[in-house]
Amino acid sequence: MAVKVSPDLISRYGGNLPRYTSYPTAVSFSTDIGPADVEGWLAQLEADQSVSLYFHTPFCDELCRFCACNTAVMRHEDGRKAYGDLLIDEMQRMVALVGKGRLVRHLHFGGGTPTTLPAETLRAIMAAVRENFRFSDDAELAMELDPRHVPEGALPLLGELGFNRISFGVQDLDPKVQETCGRIQSYEQTIACVKQAREAGVNGVNIDLIYGLPYQTLETVRDTAERIVEMQPDRLAVFGYAHVPWKQKRQQLIPQDSLPSSAERLAQTAVIDEVLVAAGYQPIGLDHYARADDAMAKAYKAGELHRNFQGYTVDPSPVLLGMGASAISMTPEGFFQNIPSAAAYTRAIKETSSLPIARGVFRTMEDRMRGRIIEVIMCNLGVDLAEQVPEGDDFRKVFAVELEALKQFEADGLVQWQGAKVSLTEAGEPFLRHFAAVFDKRRQELAATAEEGKATPRFSSSL
Ligand SMILES: C[S@@+](CC[C@H](N)C(=O)[O-])C[C@H]1O[C@@H](n2cnc3c(N)ncnc32)[C@H](O)[C@@H]1O
Ligand code: SF4
Repeated sequence: MAVKVSPDLISRYGGNLPRYTSYPTAVSFSTDIGPADVEGWLAQLEADQSVSLYFHTPFCDELCRFCACNTAVMRHEDGRKAYGDLLIDEMQRMVALVGKGRLVRHLHFGGGTPTTLPAETLRAIMAAVRENFRFSDDAELAMELDPRHVPEGALPLLGELGFNRISFGVQDLDPKVQETCGRIQSYEQTIACVKQAREAGVNGVNIDLIYGLPYQTLETVRDTAERIVEMQPDRLAVFGYAHVPWKQKRQQLIPQDSLPSSAERLAQTAVIDEVLVAAGYQPIGLDHYARADDAMAKAYKAGELHRNFQGYTVDPSPVLLGMGASAISMTPEGFFQNIPSAAAYTRAIKETSSLPIARGVFRTMEDRMRGRIIEVIMCNLGVDLAEQVPEGDDFRKVFAVELEALKQFEADGLVQWQGAKVSLTEAGEPFLRHFAAVFDKRRQELAATAEEGKATPRFSSSL
């Protein structure tokens, strides 16, 4: 994606956009959907439908200023243990609806920082998972880890419990960037963790980097990328810094004038891309890279990559069961999110026997078609529209509005047509989210309501 973007395109396209980890996006979720709807959706899953599992931990050992996640420090081990018991309780409620013994190809522990859960709690959760589900032979069992705070024995424990992929947060190695972000993490800490993970048999190593952070320059991002490549991670996520201080108060501690401009952010991605591609990594979609022999690179090349609430994945399951405060789940019928506050989630599990759901969205047949198109665009950078409409329908009629909008993209050299297939050009690659947004009808409807005086939902910067 080492592409130069003109100031004219930046000013005309710019703006804030979703990252399209789902369609409809979270702004369409409402309290109209509750436990009764979801219980129906779960109970009607096909008997042989596999599922993916997600366990969310909203705790961290210390908080980073840049982080957009809803996390807190929970000092008391008893509190963290009690939270683990709630995760098991919630999972049992899901199992009562979907039935025991379903196949799992992907399990993910995210957060926050899941290793804040005590070792005996992680053991108990994994024992409960194995009692209620069965893993496929190629199942991916993954966890996010903060290299600054890895409890003694945690990596061997993860190896023993069957985990085969760890995502390590790094972000940037420069001392000034780290200090402003409130995340001091030495290169040695990271490399020691990666080494311990591999020694424990956890061979899948992912590293998260961010561009667009305060005081980052082309030199700092190049230096970070070059030193991280030496660790030979299998996959890298290179996120654009999402500055959303209206949602995440701690980001207000980051001086606005320390943030790179859109043009600087684009130049930073180009430098990181250059380093990673030269080191043999395959660029994937919006923000991922993988070694050529990695399953994600292979899935990308075969056009079999997927995107869900965890970002890019090789997991094809249309069902994701999310446990924990704020966790999001999906079924073919709809998406639903748990109560975000850990305290309120705790009360909901303790005081009721239903699922702790705060909101959700039903997916109409049109949502499902548009969701598939947006997923294909986000994964493959292009889509054959004739393949996406119901048989017998003419895609030119179904997508007349979108085709009109794409004329400007084409005139700007951002997309090209080949029959019914429209794809990003190389120059268009930084505009992936804008391309996907053309098919986001709900966003256009919301924007129309906003013009009538209603509040506009706000996303992070698109460039
Ligand atoms: C949910 S965090 C968990 C990682 C783990 N707790 C750690 O600190 O290493 C996963 C990743 O989200 C990304 N992230 C968090 N806040 C972000 C933001 N404001 N903009 C872009 N990426 C962000 C970071 O790259 C981080 O490593
Ligand atoms: S980056 Fe990780 S450790 Fe830092 S606040 Fe976010 S989740 Fe917690």
